[in-house]
Order: sequence, then C-alpha cells, then structure tokens
Amino acid sequence: MDKTIVAIDGPSGTGKSTTARILAEKLKYLYIDSGAMYRAITFELIKNNIKPADLKTILELTKSANMQFDGEEFILNGKNITKEIRSLEVTNKVSNVSAIKELRKILVDKQRAFAKDNDVVMDGRDIGTVVFPEAKFKFYLVCDLKVRAARRRQDFIDHGFKIPLEKIMVELKKRDQIDTTRKESPLRKAKDAVEINTTNMIIEEQVNCLFRKVSGLDLP
Ligand code: DC
Repeated sequence: MDKTIVAIDGPSGTGKSTTARILAEKLKYLYIDSGAMYRAITFELIKNNIKPADLKTILELTKSANMQFDGEEFILNGKNITKEIRSLEVTNKVSNVSAIKELRKILVDKQRAFAKDNDVVMDGRDIGTVVFPEAKFKFYLVCDLKVRAARRRQDFIDHGFKIPLEKIMVELKKRDQIDTTRKESPLRKAKDAVEINTTNMIIEEQVNCLFRKVSGLDLP
C-alpha cells in the first residue's frame, strides 16, 4: 500500500521542524528532519577538516553515512550528534554544503528510502517540490524575519548556545538568500502547497492547523 507523505517546506525559523515533529507524533508517522541530514554532513566535513574543493571525499562520506532518526534524536554512524549539528558553525556553513548538486542527490535518495516503508512527515526546503512532488499533503510555512530570528535564538538557547538577535537576523537573511537563489532545488513553494503564515501562531496552533488539514479533525 502507498505510504502517506506530509511535506513541510519553508525558510528556517518558521517553526517547521517543531511543528513537523509534534505532528508526526500525533499522526504516529515517522518524522524526518531533512535539514538535520545536511547539517550532519556539514558537521562531518568540519570535524574531519575536509575542504569544499574535495568533492570526491565529500560524496564518499555522504554516500556511506548511516543516518537514523529517533524522535528528536539524530544518529550518524551510530553516534548521537543531535546537539552538535545545531552549533553556530554548522548553521553558518550548511547552506553552502547543501548547495552541492551531487550531495543533494545522495541525500534525496536517502530521504525517499525513509518513506518506502513508513508514513512520514518530512520537513525541509525542497520536500514538496523535488523529493516528493506527489506527496498527498504539502505545506509551505512563512513568518516575519524578526519573529523567525527570535525563535532561532530560543532554539540556540535550548541547545546551549547564546547568540545576539541581530547576528541571527543577519545570518538568517544570508541563508535565505543562498537557499532561495541556489541553482539546485532552491527553496520555493510548490504550486499545490498550502501556505501558512506562522507569525502570530504558537506551536500548538500550527500543529493543530496542519493536523486538521491532514486528518480532517481538530486535535483532542
Ligand atoms: O532546516 P534547517 O535550518 O535545519 O536546514 C539546514 C540547511 O539545510 C538550510 O540552510 C537549507 C538546507 N536544506 C536544504 O537545502 N534542503 C532541505 N530539504 C533541508 C535543508
């Protein structure tokens, strides 16, 4: 039987990942944070001091990477790196890494493999446009920059990093610019995606809004 896919795209700081994770819990679907996969590779490149020019090594490392999701936890080659992939260094470098065409192809294959045997909620930038253009449900989340930066800042604090709001706003803008203008799978709304503006929503409202559209019901 075909598996159900809920694709959630949008820029960072729109509450995508948190919404997707809780929605997956409520639906009893597998949650896949595709951004974590790009972050994990970025983390490995930094850790092993692999330069962007060394494409062969980058692609080998990406191909052989064993990635597992367990709720909020992310495991790479048997090691839990949930916290490490949220560092500022990884965050600042991930957009450039995720712009590598061949690397994207490998990770897209891995993303599709997750949905082979599972109903999934997957969030990212190209899930509804490239990874699963046939997804049954597609959402595109948007939100004001300042609110996004404040959410990102809280996210950093939760992971043990304290960063000024202005710095986050500058980085977010830079990242938006790279993500939306890159040649490979740029961030954009799929034609058939439902756009949701989360500026004035709390997470519970976001989750309920999506849950209602997927299940036809309000959360109990
Ligand atoms: O959602 P996030 O902030 O964890 O994503 C990290 C980076 O990965 C982001 O700059 C864009 C990239 N990304 C991507 O290109 N495609 C995806 N499907 C998910 C993330």
